[in-house]
Amino acid sequence: MARLLELTLNDRRRVDAVPDNLLLLDYLREVVGLTGTKTGCDGGECGACTVLIDDRPTLSCLTLAAIADGRRVDTVESLGTDGRLSAVQRGFHEKLGSQCGYCTPGFIMASAGLLRRNPHPSEAEIIEALGSNICRCTGYVKIIEAVKYAAQLHAGGVAP
Ligand code: FES
Ligand code: FES
Repeated sequence: MARLLELTLNDRRRVDAVPDNLLLLDYLREVVGLTGTKTGCDGGECGACTVLIDDRPTLSCLTLAAIADGRRVDTVESLGTDGRLSAVQRGFHEKLGSQCGYCTPGFIMASAGLLRRNPHPSEAEIIEALGSNICRCTGYVKIIEAVKYAAQLHAGGVAP
């Protein structure tokens, strides 16, 4: 069966006919063509596919596209304004929070979701918020430093 999916994706309204069983990850990458959201484990273990639904980090590999009907979905492509990086993007860039970068979109969206809900997170809250995301290259110290720095930038007025 197919359905009409109406959503706000990266601040733009969209309507697409999609199969009932289409995963949100496949909708984003293959229907819309937004490939910033990565397929990692494809089984809910790694967090590479994290996007925000109504500001809540969500594993798009475990979520049907139909769940997004009537809701707001933000992917990593939504971040940054007028060619300037968002606070979390700058944090990962300037504090060397990525190496191969495969996990990075998922970490960035989980971090952006955290700062939207909690602009001044403690280190423990950052660690908890990133608990669903795995990095196999960088180690987590730099990633946590990146999110702390992003929180400082956000406090200074940079969008998360
Ligand atoms: S690809 Fe979704 S959790 Fe790994
Ligand atoms: S930077 Fe390579 S998996 Fe995280």
